[in-house]
Amino acid sequence: MNLLTHELQAGIVAKQPELREKVLADPWRLAFHEMPPTGWMNDPNGVCQYNGLYHLYYQYSPLDPEGGLKYWGHKTSTDLVHFNEEEIAIYPDQSFDLHGVYSGSAFVKDDQMHFYYTGNVKYEGDYDYIHQGREQNTVHAVSKDGFHYDYREVIIHANDYPEGFTKHIRDPKIVEKDNHYYMVLGGRTTDDQGAILVYQSEDLYNWSYHGMLLGGIDKMGYMWECPDFFELDGHDLLLMSPQGLQAQGYQYCNVYQSGYYLGETNWEQVEFSPTSPFIELDHGFDFYAPQTFEDEKGRRILWGWMGLPDIEPNYCNPTIERGWQHAMTLPRQLTVENGQLYQRPLPEYETIRADRFYSHFTISGDHQDDQLHGEVYEMIVTIEEIGDSLALHLRQDTIINYNKKDQLLTLSLGASGYGRDSRSLALASLEQLHIFSDHSSLEVFINDGAHVFTTRLYPQPIQDQIRFVGDASVSVEKWQLNQT
Ligand code: FRU
Repeated sequence: MNLLTHELQAGIVAKQPELREKVLADPWRLAFHEMPPTGWMNDPNGVCQYNGLYHLYYQYSPLDPEGGLKYWGHKTSTDLVHFNEEEIAIYPDQSFDLHGVYSGSAFVKDDQMHFYYTGNVKYEGDYDYIHQGREQNTVHAVSKDGFHYDYREVIIHANDYPEGFTKHIRDPKIVEKDNHYYMVLGGRTTDDQGAILVYQSEDLYNWSYHGMLLGGIDKMGYMWECPDFFELDGHDLLLMSPQGLQAQGYQYCNVYQSGYYLGETNWEQVEFSPTSPFIELDHGFDFYAPQTFEDEKGRRILWGWMGLPDIEPNYCNPTIERGWQHAMTLPRQLTVENGQLYQRPLPEYETIRADRFYSHFTISGDHQDDQLHGEVYEMIVTIEEIGDSLALHLRQDTIINYNKKDQLLTLSLGASGYGRDSRSLALASLEQLHIFSDHSSLEVFINDGAHVFTTRLYPQPIQDQIRFVGDASVSVEKWQLNQT
């Protein structure tokens, strides 16, 4: 430990307890989602399973609910449902990461865990911090247990990136293919286009520039953050979080996007050829910078940051005054079926179900059941028949509405959305809504995980309505969910 680590730790020990009390008193704290103990959380980092234990590292500012200096926070779990908050995994305490241990990933190989992350350094002075004034170094750390590391070195210094790029190159993720290792990094070119760079290695320590996997696509934004690549069910998927896309109808309505291309990859030629358009992973207000891993059961699991940067002045999160901001989505299992990506909640979450409710309703106008209400719950609505429309009114003022004639699904919020208004998705038919409601979040999986809407919401206590309006015949299964 160096002097700076010591100072940073002492600051946390001195200031965190007061913040902690505020957070614990907040009724908007989440019951079954991962949130920061205090302060701010953003991207999931280094998600993996190592010797049975699941690790979720994350972008963390322990003392500042509005962001600031980033550390790697750390949570572990044996079941992906109940998590332990561990000691901070990486401090910004080296000359190469002084202004933030930025996003990165973990790669498990031969009883070692390799972390790769971006060490952010900002120079003092009159810089634009795009073309000059910052370093985004790629750093490698090696750990035997996931808690401590015995090696932490810069492997690609900011000055050594190829020409044609700005200072924005970050968020390494490792791919192993045919006994070679490839690292994908997100970047911004000097002519303001998003791109993915690839480095190659044979030993995980020495890396050389291999080329640009994808980039320079018209109307695809000026910067691509957090790339991820994997093969799934016979397809190659390239995930990324582009910045600078223009909204197109109901698409790309948030400040920044997250999505994927299906495609074909030639690693030797460093070429990814998309076979699909860029498809958004989530249609709600709060989803960004997702990262995936394959667990020991062979499942491809994705976590997203249930939040976005730079949302103000459009909307905001009132938990800032309560000492914290942001959370993770539920982990989702990914599959590709008939060329379509599905995201489904993990069966592990069935273990926290309690108080089952089941009923069949024929709805004509306004329909409510005395037994059916809740704040923290899971609910599956199966639509058997639908007339012109069906709307589901939840919590304080949230409405999920399907209009059959327009073939449009819309999520809208009132005052509890703190500026979040409405998001829509063109949908030919509505068959199922699988809803996870937490104190201040809502995830809606549509048609068995074909689409997802994720949003934060901040209802007053106790707003627990579940009301149907419209013309439909549905079955409803619901459980209270226990605190994890
Ligand atoms: C995405 C991101 C990453 C960066 C990190 C910093 O939200 O901007 O590109 O590494 O957050 O916290």
